[in-house]
Amino acid sequence: MTKQSVEIDLPDQISPDRLPRHIAIIMDGNGRWAKRRRLPRIAGHRAGIKAVRQAVETCARLGVPYLTLYAFSIENWKRPHTEIRLLMGLLREYLKKEIEELNRQNIRLLVIGRIHDLPKPVIQDLQNALDQTRKNTGLHLVLALNYGARAEMVDAVREIVSRARQNGTMEIDESLLSSHLYTSGLPDPDLLIRTSGELRLSNFLLWQAAYSELWVTETLWPDFTQNDLYQAIIDFQKRERRYGGLGLS
Ligand code: FPP
Repeated sequence: MTKQSVEIDLPDQISPDRLPRHIAIIMDGNGRWAKRRRLPRIAGHRAGIKAVRQAVETCARLGVPYLTLYAFSIENWKRPHTEIRLLMGLLREYLKKEIEELNRQNIRLLVIGRIHDLPKPVIQDLQNALDQTRKNTGLHLVLALNYGARAEMVDAVREIVSRARQNGTMEIDESLLSSHLYTSGLPDPDLLIRTSGELRLSNFLLWQAAYSELWVTETLWPDFTQNDLYQAIIDFQKRERRYGGLGLS
């Protein structure tokens, strides 16, 4: 099969009525992409933004309602100061440049994570982008920033305990805990994609991904194209989701 015919065929193999409601992506491999080219790591992150644009545009066009991108984890503060500074700079640049395009594509931006601990200028740019895209009704683009799933659960438990102290006892169940997570109101991810071949969740959406279908590719994030995304969705649509049952109903 020629490359040309692969590009034409893949979207036709996707059933529009069985799209994942929520796709979450661990965008890994920017550093390795740069290293292979003898470039500084930040060049890999910069190239990663192009892949972000393509994934966002593809999800919006297909009609996927939610896309969550793991853009900066709580553990990423352990990286060298210069890399963190440049990553924050890239994020700010993305937020400023992309608002117009997000609005054009009817995309609403959301964020999850310990946002209040990010640098002040980043918080201001985020707030601005959230405000300016608030009315959009198409794809919800969720950026996980200063995000860690364990921290998210700790924050949820703290909130529940503080409410219980005020209101007396509370019935604790799964839906109560879910409603205190950063993702409250969002559906759990149906499909969780990880690039660059690593087989781990890296503290990403641990609660929400309980029944997510996992799809891992060796492709490094900056090389991830719309065809990789099509392939992930096609594979997802072939899976039988059983949620611990027998899958016969
Ligand atoms: C992992 O690659 C990637 C990150 C820690 C950051 C992801 C950030 C971007 C794609 C750019 C900014 C994003 C947005 C949404 C504006 P790595 O550095 O861990 O790669 P390695 O494992 O090969 O070293």
